[in-house]
Amino acid sequence: MKITFLGTGTSQGIPLIACKCDVCTSSNPKDKRLRVSVLIETEGKTFVIDAGPDFRQQMLRENVSELDAIIFTHEHMDHIAGLDDTKAFNFILSKHVDIYATKRVQKAIRRVYSYIFEGLNYPGIPKVIMHTIDNNTFSIEGVKFTPVEVMHYKLPVLGFRIGDFTYITDANHISEKEKEKIKGSKVIVLNALRKEKHISHFTLDEAVKLITELNPERAYLIHISHQLGLHDKISEELPDFIELALAHDKLSHINMAEEYNEDNINKGESLFKKKYGCMACHSVEGGEVKGRVGPNLSGVGSRLNPDWIFSWLKNPQALHPNTAMPNFNLPDKTAAAIAAYLVSLK
Ligand code: HEC
Ligand SMILES: [Zn+2]
Ligand SMILES: [Zn+2]
Repeated sequence: MKITFLGTGTSQGIPLIACKCDVCTSSNPKDKRLRVSVLIETEGKTFVIDAGPDFRQQMLRENVSELDAIIFTHEHMDHIAGLDDTKAFNFILSKHVDIYATKRVQKAIRRVYSYIFEGLNYPGIPKVIMHTIDNNTFSIEGVKFTPVEVMHYKLPVLGFRIGDFTYITDANHISEKEKEKIKGSKVIVLNALRKEKHISHFTLDEAVKLITELNPERAYLIHISHQLGLHDKISEELPDFIELALAHDKLSHINMAEEYNEDNINKGESLFKKKYGCMACHSVEGGEVKGRVGPNLSGVGSRLNPDWIFSWLKNPQALHPNTAMPNFNLPDKTAAAIAAYLVSLK
């Protein structure tokens, strides 16, 4: 499974129109946040959670050309305002776009986009098929989604658990019963608006406390306001007893456990030996170390953690700033295949 943060900002996005604060004027790309949405690629299928006002830009930026479904968390504009732009997929894929929402959310969508549902047969009107979901597990194309009902002040909002991954946005309270559905997730995405109390969103402290309780291997924070502060400064303040990060737009996370299969191991071996010339610096045979620049990688799979290997291949300098290991700018799928091969070297 691969997840990509399409947007990580609160409803106004960052920068806000006309705001001159430090965050809105920051030149760091991580301080530019589109409205929240996430791309999920798993089992050969592609899903998007929410389609807000930046949907078009997000699809273009990530080169999304296949889309199996859009699943809506709730009906607020920052989560549904991009629905008209789904019509591009009608032309490209010659089919309707499947959307999943609760009855209440559908009602709002039908009101806001009445022209889509009036049965008009005008070429520019998006063609969608609505599927009704509730707080029970459902499947799309064989992929299982478990809804987690969270409270956004008085409005119930759905989060979703897909395998080991749980995505929750726009919450300020989660009942003990719903928390049980999240427990055991390896990766959790949760909203954290700012430091000051808010009526319908978790603050940074509240989010950190909940993540600590839920105890995943990795967590990311989203739905961030310019009031939270600069990405790099807040990132430094986060507790380091848990792998917790402020998400930023374009960030992706790959689940190495799912990438570890025969196919990737074989692909990775050929990429390692032929395409990228890793053998110029590394040996993978026991004993053979002479004349090589980097460490011998035989048995590396029992020494190093798969997720660490993946991160290392993506950006060695981020882990060891002065390393002689080049950054190959590997696409995620390529890095995952090479990592799978290395993990297989026990
Ligand atoms: C120019 C030489 C060079 C090339 C080419 C190179 N590496 Fe490295 N690699 C290094 C060096 C040097 C280190 C030691 C890093 C350090 O600690 O700074 C390293 C470390 C590593 C490690 C961590 C090993 C450990 O025991 O800590 C892995 C995994 C790795 N390289 C994989 C690869 C892969 C895969 C490729 C090809 C895509 C590659 N390397 C290409 C020089 C290279
Ligand atoms: Zn601002
Ligand atoms: Zn929102």
